[in-house]
Amino acid sequence: MPAVVRIVDLVKNYYLESVVVRALRGVSLEVEEGDFVALMGPSGSGKSTLLNVLGCLDRPTQGEYHLGEEDVAHMSDDQLSEIRSRYLGFIFQQYNLLPQYTVVENIEVPLLYQGVTLDDKTREWCIELATMVGLGERLDHRPMQLSGGQQQRVAIARSLVNRPQVILADEPTGNLDSRTSDEIMMMLTRLNLEGKTIIMVTHENDIAEWARRVIRMRDGQIETDVRNDHPKGTIGERGVSTPR
Ligand SMILES: Nc1ncnc2c1ncn2[C@@H]1O[C@H](COP(=O)(O)OP(=O)(O)O)[C@@H](O)[C@H]1O
Ligand SMILES: [Mg+2]
Repeated sequence: MPAVVRIVDLVKNYYLESVVVRALRGVSLEVEEGDFVALMGPSGSGKSTLLNVLGCLDRPTQGEYHLGEEDVAHMSDDQLSEIRSRYLGFIFQQYNLLPQYTVVENIEVPLLYQGVTLDDKTREWCIELATMVGLGERLDHRPMQLSGGQQQRVAIARSLVNRPQVILADEPTGNLDSRTSDEIMMMLTRLNLEGKTIIMVTHENDIAEWARRVIRMRDGQIETDVRNDHPKGTIGERGVSTPR
């Protein structure tokens, strides 16, 4: 498989008043199309910083970053936001749904940011996504009326609305109990088996076991990078199994 993400000697510094925080100290990484990567490591090791750079939410201080065919390390803010909506879907620990919007409207939000005109066709696509994540009966519910797991499913549907190649997730199960976490991981596994590349930050071993590759960071560098030939939730290359 070709690499969808290619990072070479990536450095990210944060400049505070009198100190420089060296958050990433020379990270090199290739992620193949269709892979499912868990990024682990202690608090402060640089996971979120790396995910933000990968997500084109922040620029590296030094180093190369290629996303698909694009050389993104030196792009302007406008170019980065265009790349984000073309290639990337985001899932966060806090769901980040808009409370006044319904399920379907929340799924539509990235289209609005992109300047897409909403019509029957986009509406249908968002309903299809809501149905796919099991919320077909709750299209008009607002986030407050949903459980945490349901809210995260809305966020997953929203992350798919631009048909991204890569999904970036920062602690997607961090606020959920273990049963609901498994449901969410099962959904991510299914998307991965359908071809989406997933890069997910987690500090939980139980969650990392769902990934095909586990990268551990320490002090802004990659410490270990290990493949998992038997990720939880998959039977061989094809099916999705129910854990426990
Ligand atoms: N916006 C920021 N300004 C200054 N320092 C930051 C900022 N974001 C993160 N850091 C620092 O960068 C280092 C890596 O942080 P982070 O990437 O959030 O680690 P992790 O997600 O692994 O906990 C930490 O020392 C953190 O304090
Ligand atoms: Mg973090």
